Amino acid sequence: MTVTKGIILAGGSGTRMFPVTNVYSKQLIMVYDKPLIYYPLSTLMLSGIKDIMIISNGESIPSYSKLLSDGSHLGINIEYGVQKEPRGIAEAFIIADEFIGEDNVALILGDNIFYGEYNKFRNAVNGNGNATIFGYYVSDPERYGVIEFDGEKPVSIIEKPKEHVSHYAVPGFYIYDSSVVDIARSLKPSDRGELEITDVNNIYLGKDKLDVVKLGRGFAWLDTGTPASMMDASNFIETIEKRQSLKIGCIEEIAMRMDYIGRDEFIKLTSSYPDCAYRDYLLSI
Ligand code: TTP
Repeated sequence: MTVTKGIILAGGSGTRMFPVTNVYSKQLIMVYDKPLIYYPLSTLMLSGIKDIMIISNGESIPSYSKLLSDGSHLGINIEYGVQKEPRGIAEAFIIADEFIGEDNVALILGDNIFYGEYNKFRNAVNGNGNATIFGYYVSDPERYGVIEFDGEKPVSIIEKPKEHVSHYAVPGFYIYDSSVVDIARSLKPSDRGELEITDVNNIYLGKDKLDVVKLGRGFAWLDTGTPASMMDASNFIETIEKRQSLKIGCIEEIAMRMDYIGRDEFIKLTSSYPDCAYRDYLLSI
C-alpha cells in the first residue's frame, strides 16, 4: 500500500495580518475556538495521513512544538522543518526531502480550511497516480492559480491570470509522488522570487501526469489571509458548530474517531486538559 506523508506549510510573511504577525505566526491565530493550524491538521488526519511535517520559520517552531509536540498523544507522528525565508510554497519539498523519502506526499497550506466531503480527499490520497490537485469554483479566480480546461481536460494552470480563464481555482491541498522533490529542485524562482507551486503543477501537467478533482458545491474552502477572511472563517465555524453542537477541526476527536488512539488514551488525554469548554466538549462525546 502506498504511504502518503503530509506537510503543513505554516510559515510565510503574514503581511496582510500585520501587526499580530510581527509577534507570532498567522497559523496560531484563533479561528473561532481553536488555532488556525488545527483545521489543516484535521484535514490531513481525516484524509488518513499520520506522518506529518510542519514547516514554519525558525522562530515559530517552538510554539508549534509546544502546541502539538510529536503528535503521539493523537496517535500520529509530527516532525518539524524550518523555512528560513518565505521563498515559495514549492520550497517545502526541498526542506522535507528526507522526510518524504520514496513516499507520496500531500501538502496543505497552513491557512486553508476545508469542510465537506473529506472522502474525496481520502480517495485522492489513496488513489494518487503521480499528482493530484483539486479545482474549486470561486467568484474571484484571479487571486489564485486557475485551471484552464478543454472540455473536462485540464490544459494549463495560470497563476493569478489577468484575463478570465475559468472559475476553477486551485486550493492549497496538493498530492504528489516523491519525484516532486527533484521537480522542486529544478525550479527557478519566479519574478516575485518564489518557487511556485503552479510551476510544479504545470510540469506534471506537461507530462500528462496531473489529475484534477473538482470539489463540488457542497464543499467549503476558506483561505484566511486577511483580518476579514479570518472573521468570516470564525463566523462560519461558529455557525456550524452551534447548529450541530459538534466541533469542526477538533484534532482529539478526529484522532479517536479515526482510531489513531483508543478510548482509554482519549479519556486520559482529555482529563489532563484544564477545565474549559473545549474539554467539556471532548468529555461529552
Ligand atoms: P500566502 O497567503 O501566499 O502568504 P502569507 O501567509 O505569507 O501572507 P501575506 O501574503 O499576507 O504576506 O501564503 C499561503 C500559505 O503558505 C500561508 O499559510 C503561508 C504559507 N507559506 C509559507 O509557509 N512559505 C512560503 O514561502 C509561502 C509563499 C507561503
